[in-house]
Amino acid sequence: MRVIRTVSEMQVARHSLAEPVGLVPTMGYLHDGHISLVKQSKKDNVSTVVVSIFVNPTQFGPHEDFEKYPRDEECDLAMLEKARVDVAFLPVPHEMYPSGFNTWIEIKGITEKLEGAARPGHFEGVATVCNKLFNIIQPDKAYFGQKDAQQVMVIQKMVFNLNMNLEIVVVPTLREGDGLAMSSRNYYLNPDERKAATVLYRALLKAKEVRQEGEHNAEIIRKSMSAIIQSEPLAKIDYVSIADTVSLHELEQIDSKALVSLAVRIGKTRLIDNIVLS
Ligand code: PAJ
Repeated sequence: MRVIRTVSEMQVARHSLAEPVGLVPTMGYLHDGHISLVKQSKKDNVSTVVVSIFVNPTQFGPHEDFEKYPRDEECDLAMLEKARVDVAFLPVPHEMYPSGFNTWIEIKGITEKLEGAARPGHFEGVATVCNKLFNIIQPDKAYFGQKDAQQVMVIQKMVFNLNMNLEIVVVPTLREGDGLAMSSRNYYLNPDERKAATVLYRALLKAKEVRQEGEHNAEIIRKSMSAIIQSEPLAKIDYVSIADTVSLHELEQIDSKALVSLAVRIGKTRLIDNIVLS
């Protein structure tokens, strides 16, 4: 596996990479959820798999966890090596954001909801860094997890609106045995919090169950989810949403597909998860 740390080296290397090229953008502290994206790219028979690891400062708010976001480069590189990744791209922040950097991608509408409402500027940071990674690496396909459903929608919108020449592949959420979605932030949880964190998936399953029993009223389903989360003393609801899968507007009635998503604080750790009801 080739490890590349500068933008210019990556751009030169790109010319000699076997095509098609698949890109898996990450912020590192890798887990099996990230590796499932790599595995999907292998299944798709891309000839070169590039994984980027970059804790992107511009997608963190001023009071968020950028400084203490977990990092373990040695372990990450070992995991990528084992997964037979071809290129690991690990740029340093001043390479990605040189002084005087002042260009941002803003996707309106959907970024004002859910994570965008809770984390102002977050999706500008995500879209901008992904646009930069797409320009630097020029992948034919880029892989994103359904775990971050709104992120996927934002990236798909950017690619469509700006006529970017690549395919976005969405990979299902990988979960622990007890249903907790894998996430680098699970590392923050102490053992009691780790147990409490299963409440996110339990609430999502409750939504599915109530819907399958024939309930169409979205507010009744939101309330049944909230009740589950409130029964967990360590959990505090940030939002519980049942939204249209295109506009992300909150639904009153579920008539066809709906994105059920939630953000919950377990102690100091903020976790998100979602399922799609069809
Ligand atoms: P990060 O949180 O490291 O996630 C990298 C990719 O892995 C994302 O596409 C995310 O949705 C996916 N992923 C995370 N947990 C997953 C799980 N349990 N199952 C399946 N996929 C999972 O998301 C980011 O980084 C950043 O915002 C990034 C896109 C790299 C831009 O900085």
